[in-house]
Amino acid sequence: MTDTSAATGAQVPPTPAAMPSTMPVGAPVTFARNPLRDPRDRRLPRVPEPCALVVFGVTGDLSRKKLLPAIYDLANRGLLPPDFILLGFARRDWGDGDFESLARKAAKEHARTAWNDEVWRRLCGNIKFVPGSFDDEEAFDTLAATLDELRSSHGIKGNAAFYLSIPPSMFPVVLKQMERTGMASNAKSGGWRRVVVEKPFGHDLQSALELNALVDKVFTPQDVFRIDHYLGKETVQNILALRFANQLFEPVWNSNFVDSVQITMAEDVGIGGRAAFYDATGAARDVLQNHLLQLLALTAMEEPVEFSPEAIGIEKIKVLRAISLPPDLGAYAIRGQYDNGWLAGERAVAYRAEDGIPPNSTTETYAAVRLGIETRRWAGVPFYMRTGKRLPRRVTEIGVIFKKAPHLPFSRTDTEELGHNQLVIRVQPDEGVTLKFGSKVPSTAMEVRDVAMDFLYGEAFTEASPEAYERLILDVLIGDATLFPRNDEVEASWRVIDPLEDFWDAKMPYLYRAGEWGPKEVDEMLARDGRSWRRP
Ligand code: BG6
Repeated sequence: MTDTSAATGAQVPPTPAAMPSTMPVGAPVTFARNPLRDPRDRRLPRVPEPCALVVFGVTGDLSRKKLLPAIYDLANRGLLPPDFILLGFARRDWGDGDFESLARKAAKEHARTAWNDEVWRRLCGNIKFVPGSFDDEEAFDTLAATLDELRSSHGIKGNAAFYLSIPPSMFPVVLKQMERTGMASNAKSGGWRRVVVEKPFGHDLQSALELNALVDKVFTPQDVFRIDHYLGKETVQNILALRFANQLFEPVWNSNFVDSVQITMAEDVGIGGRAAFYDATGAARDVLQNHLLQLLALTAMEEPVEFSPEAIGIEKIKVLRAISLPPDLGAYAIRGQYDNGWLAGERAVAYRAEDGIPPNSTTETYAAVRLGIETRRWAGVPFYMRTGKRLPRRVTEIGVIFKKAPHLPFSRTDTEELGHNQLVIRVQPDEGVTLKFGSKVPSTAMEVRDVAMDFLYGEAFTEASPEAYERLILDVLIGDATLFPRNDEVEASWRVIDPLEDFWDAKMPYLYRAGEWGPKEVDEMLARDGRSWRRP
């Protein structure tokens, strides 16, 4: 049966008199669609209006490995407007050509899509560079003047997004320069001006409040895009599709059926070249405060009334505000730091022996915590979260562990190998979803053992998944904030993290060997509750 109501948006519900007295079993009753609630057709990505993207900190790691390659990929997919301008700002004595070489190298090394000279030829004609440091007023005046010139020379009509790919401590000084020069003003530019702020947004609740106040004063609040690249991952967006586009999962998605939830983000890499940033940040602020709490919010939230930034934000914030910490933090909030060890056959040095890390650093490279969500849906269900570096493999997953069947009409020996049913959302790698359930072992009388049913993106779809940054940069240029955490979400997340940081303050984290799954105290944490971690 074709439902035309979405297309017309105006189907009128039958009046009671016109309704048949008995409805055929299973026949859907159609109600008029509220045109405001019709989701936009999101099948094809849209192309932004002509605009400039100004990247601060273009020579940094994030810019070279993720942002510049993503911009090339967008150009390659035909998703950038013909008059798109890429403008770099950094403290280098460079001209446009030097920046173009850096961008080309970055795109060649890290882009997802194949190299195409023609695409680059078109893009590189519109690559510009403004040299300067963040406290250099003249450099910001030049940047403002350059954007003004581009308005007429390239028809960008004043549209520009500013990407702050810089250390968080630099946000205020750059924002103040933008305020001083008027380059953040929609009215002055005659087009739109947006800002993208990289995580971590603040260092704690107090600094996040201050930063929010500043950024919302300089830019119009709806033009502020706080980026959490996990929300740009296809598998993370799929959490909402899995839960709310299907009938199968939602009825059991609550404390009546769910025993516990485990959210894991494990990395095999160490801290790379980011010693100064990482040592001042640690795993809880780097990952738990943002990526993991966002995954938790999407997993636990109620259905939004529509697929819009406002409606999704409303539901996520309810979850984040309902999070409770365990009373016994010593047992349920564990920090770790990697020690010497072996990974993939190679020796890995201890965190404190890494270049640029003080030998007595107490920064954690691992954090695990048990959280509760104080709502009717989740009361009593523990959410176990863990993240760490130098673990055996790179894997991010959400495991929803169901309660055991209340009764088994089989013998104990036949069901010895039957575990809990589990639904595992594999965020990366091997993107997909696994459902684990019991099944009869062939040729036994009735032995039941766990089996897995797998959905793999690579097998189910011919379309390749874009990188998170491709999706998110495109959304910024289009002005779609659906996949960006709101200010109140960031603040609610700090309210969870601050007490943990206070508790951990200056205590030495437990050590774990590089290449192992974290300190033993983390296994003890689940064992105390009669559970164990999934081995992803
Ligand atoms: C970043 C963290 O946000 O996410 C890094 O700052 C981490 O420390 C990275 O390595 C992991 O991202 P992904 O997409 O590789 O899981």
